[in-house]
Amino acid sequence: IGDTLAYTPTMGWNSWNCWGLSVSDEKVKSSAQAMLDKGLAAHGWTYINIDDGWEAPQRAADSSIVPNSKFPDMQGLGQWLHERGLKFGIYSSPGPLTCGGFLGSYKNEQKDADSYAAWGVDYLKYDWCSYDGIAGNDTTLETFIKPYRVMQQALRHHHRDIIYSLCQYGMKEVWKWGQQVDAQSWRTTEDIEDTWESLLRIGFSQYKLHTYAGPGHWNDPDMMIVGQVGWGEHLHPSRLTPDEQYTHVSLWCLQSAPLLIGCDLSKLDAFTLNLLTNDEVLALDQDPLGAPAERVLATAQEQVWVKKLADGSRAVGIFNMDTTYRDITIDWKALGLEAWAHTRNAWTQTNIPRPAHSVIPPHGVLLLHCSR
Ligand code: GLA
Repeated sequence: IGDTLAYTPTMGWNSWNCWGLSVSDEKVKSSAQAMLDKGLAAHGWTYINIDDGWEAPQRAADSSIVPNSKFPDMQGLGQWLHERGLKFGIYSSPGPLTCGGFLGSYKNEQKDADSYAAWGVDYLKYDWCSYDGIAGNDTTLETFIKPYRVMQQALRHHHRDIIYSLCQYGMKEVWKWGQQVDAQSWRTTEDIEDTWESLLRIGFSQYKLHTYAGPGHWNDPDMMIVGQVGWGEHLHPSRLTPDEQYTHVSLWCLQSAPLLIGCDLSKLDAFTLNLLTNDEVLALDQDPLGAPAERVLATAQEQVWVKKLADGSRAVGIFNMDTTYRDITIDWKALGLEAWAHTRNAWTQTNIPRPAHSVIPPHGVLLLHCSR
């Protein structure tokens, strides 16, 4: 649509939540292959993003960045992905070191952007780590923006569509200035974990930010913690219950969040595959209006989020925040949707009579698509 980069939120995979710093060419390819073999790519999942841990300990004599021995051929990997219709993402930090202690891009930004372009990179996740040492006691907004502007200019030198994703933890209210550095998304919070507490702190805390996102510029509440995760340690199935996982995906789609799967795709189970390939749910995230949901009701026991969609219809997420089953009354009048006759359950993809109330499981969700 038009020529806006990331007109709809990015959909893909990132190595961090499963492989951490033990990522390798082989592991990336196995997830990419699974993306294709298991049919995910056909549902819009496209980006294969290498996170931290790919960099060699030293730069080359001409100061260009080189991958470590786990990545024998970056250009070859980029080509391998492109030949299969996938896109190629990479990671760096503006400081001298990345968060994992590998080489960052400080003072080598143009060199690094040149390497990314030569390798066929389509996406850069640009962190913050170790830039505090450069910033020192200077906590002005301009100091926080500067390194992102430097890399943005280096990337734009190349006339290549490289999605620029800031990993800045919401510092200095990044949602207010991310667009100034031509970023397509920005992390709004700390790192997510596969617990309900983390989902609450990260996903449900986004309700004030909906006005800052839209086509080409998205709030990023971090990656999906479904399937096998482990951050490079022991891979384990996400500790979120199945209902919490429905909540997780529903909330990210309602918020028009970038969707980056964080699990080992080669070990994808049937439940997780279903969770990630429901086209009616994904369509809510990818809706071209790009209007993140507003939280219209919040109590200790329940929350309701409503998202406007391009065709004038609405997505409504009714969340049970409690640890017990609850019969939740839905006040359609209070939602301003009393005249909307057609209701569809997005997860089950069935038309249903408009419910006056619904029994929702602990930490679960009823995700509806309502139209006149
Ligand atoms: C930070 C980021 C993570 C990941 C690691 C890599 O913690 O928030 O998403 O990129 O750095 O070291």
